[in-house]
Amino acid sequence: MDSVEIREKYISFFESKGHKQIPSAPVVPENDPSVLFNTAGMQPLVPYLMGQPHPYGTRLCDYQKCMRTNDLDEVGDVTHHTFFEMLGNWSLGDYFKKESISWSFELLTKEFNIPVERLAVTVFKGNDIVAADEESANIWKEMGIPEKRIKYLGEDDNWWPNMELTGPCGPDTEIFYFRSEDEIPEEFDPEDDRWVEIWNNVFMQYNHNEDGTFTELPKKNVDTGMGLERITAVLEGVTDNYASSIWTDVIEKIEQISALTYTGNEKAMRIIADHIRSAVFMSADPAGIKPSNTDQGYILRRLIRRAIRYAKKLNIDINSDWEQEIAILIINKYKKYYAELEENKQVVLDVLKNEKIKFNRTLEKGLKEFEKISSKIQDGKMDKDNAFRLYDTFGFPIELTVELAGEMGIEVDEEGFKEKFKAHQELSRAGAKEKFKGGLASTGENETMYHTATHLFNAALKKVVGPDVHQKGSNITAERMRFDFTCDHKLTDEEKKQAEELVNKWIDEGLTVVKTEMNKEDAVKSGAECMFIEKYPDRVTVYTIGDVSAELCGGPHVENTSKLPHIKIKKEEAVSAGVRRIKAVFVEQ
Ligand code: ALA
Repeated sequence: MDSVEIREKYISFFESKGHKQIPSAPVVPENDPSVLFNTAGMQPLVPYLMGQPHPYGTRLCDYQKCMRTNDLDEVGDVTHHTFFEMLGNWSLGDYFKKESISWSFELLTKEFNIPVERLAVTVFKGNDIVAADEESANIWKEMGIPEKRIKYLGEDDNWWPNMELTGPCGPDTEIFYFRSEDEIPEEFDPEDDRWVEIWNNVFMQYNHNEDGTFTELPKKNVDTGMGLERITAVLEGVTDNYASSIWTDVIEKIEQISALTYTGNEKAMRIIADHIRSAVFMSADPAGIKPSNTDQGYILRRLIRRAIRYAKKLNIDINSDWEQEIAILIINKYKKYYAELEENKQVVLDVLKNEKIKFNRTLEKGLKEFEKISSKIQDGKMDKDNAFRLYDTFGFPIELTVELAGEMGIEVDEEGFKEKFKAHQELSRAGAKEKFKGGLASTGENETMYHTATHLFNAALKKVVGPDVHQKGSNITAERMRFDFTCDHKLTDEEKKQAEELVNKWIDEGLTVVKTEMNKEDAVKSGAECMFIEKYPDRVTVYTIGDVSAELCGGPHVENTSKLPHIKIKKEEAVSAGVRRIKAVFVEQ
């Protein structure tokens, strides 16, 4: 069964159980600045898991674009990916353990034809928040999973996401598949890596609050996640994920371009395949990520540059259109699931090409410089000055230097590099590092207020600059808001002042913020601002603020503009041709 069939079967199975398919959210969270990427299918659903009604109802399913970059340097082995797709189904206060487990069992054994003998599960053994999950264990037994194939594990294994992160969470049950020709042991040992985890069903009934306490959510939810790459490899009987139908055509393309075979060049080919796929999805995302030295842009830069270095290792002519060819193949393969790939095709191809040209200019020289530096090293250590020079003058991400050095048994003073980097760069990457850890912080009060302020700025700028102003993006942290909008000129001081005054006037007026659910068509007709309209379901929520603003949006927002302090524009700058950006902060009144 290939990935096309697996995806279709998954969705149609859950549709047959009353679920509605929801579109994948962008890979960059829209309202959660605490993380760089969605790392799980549930992340875009946090407000709904917390109790807000979802316009599609209480049973949802999807495939969601995810990125996990903690293990970026591990990519190259048989299992790691940066970008991946997660199949998921949710109950928002609807069904619970019984249905969740029995449907998972039914899909795996009836639709995916997995023999019951190859399955085993873990359930939660209990802690001081919740007792051992006997209920799940009993349901599994009823399904026909023998007692010896059910293991009780603690919080480290059977609590999702983990005990540290804030946000919705709960105990889970994980499903394992015996992926070996060996005789299947009667007793399941979760430590035995012939058993691979394929699906996780979380019984999400708690919120982990900022103050460390756990409170019951208004409703009991189910959140499940199954990585498409892994289940495909499992069902196709391959132990190397890159040998599954998800990757074979991409690998073949790389074989063709390099005139080499996968066998013997696995690591480089996997890295090129994975990194170019991630770069394609990242640069096609509505978030409009461009290579840069901070946050998502830095990851994109690292991915492209690492792919280029491995292409060089395969003696691919870097100046040829090799990366364009791979990207086009990936776009064609996925565009029926993700329309943005086709829509933003040119953007993607330009991002790859421009970054390649930029890196190429210095790569050769940088590698020479690296050799020079490393040949002089006698104590196995590269100092921070040399590492910084490779970064600053030759565009080597520190991770690249570390990787190159590692191949020669040289250790790099990364800490020293970071200090130097901080001292030299106003934009510190340290904050971003924190975010790589992932996390599911719920939207805080400040973020909510800034979110409402972006709507006010959108409306104010339309009045001050003209009706052609439209939002192109926004990014909110607890400290500030950033708002990108279409505009063909640099805002004059007068325009900035007027926009700011208008927003503050609306804040003073105490306008009510109203949330209305309606059909998408009606929302468009009503003249509400509809950004990325195609991403929304047929039923949408529109937020209106007094009679000054109406926008299609998932929220959250304050109920009244009087909740906002006055706001001040701190910066106005160009993002790209025809797009300007303002940064604004709340000020004491
Ligand atoms: N959110 C759960 C996971 O990612 C299902 O494993």
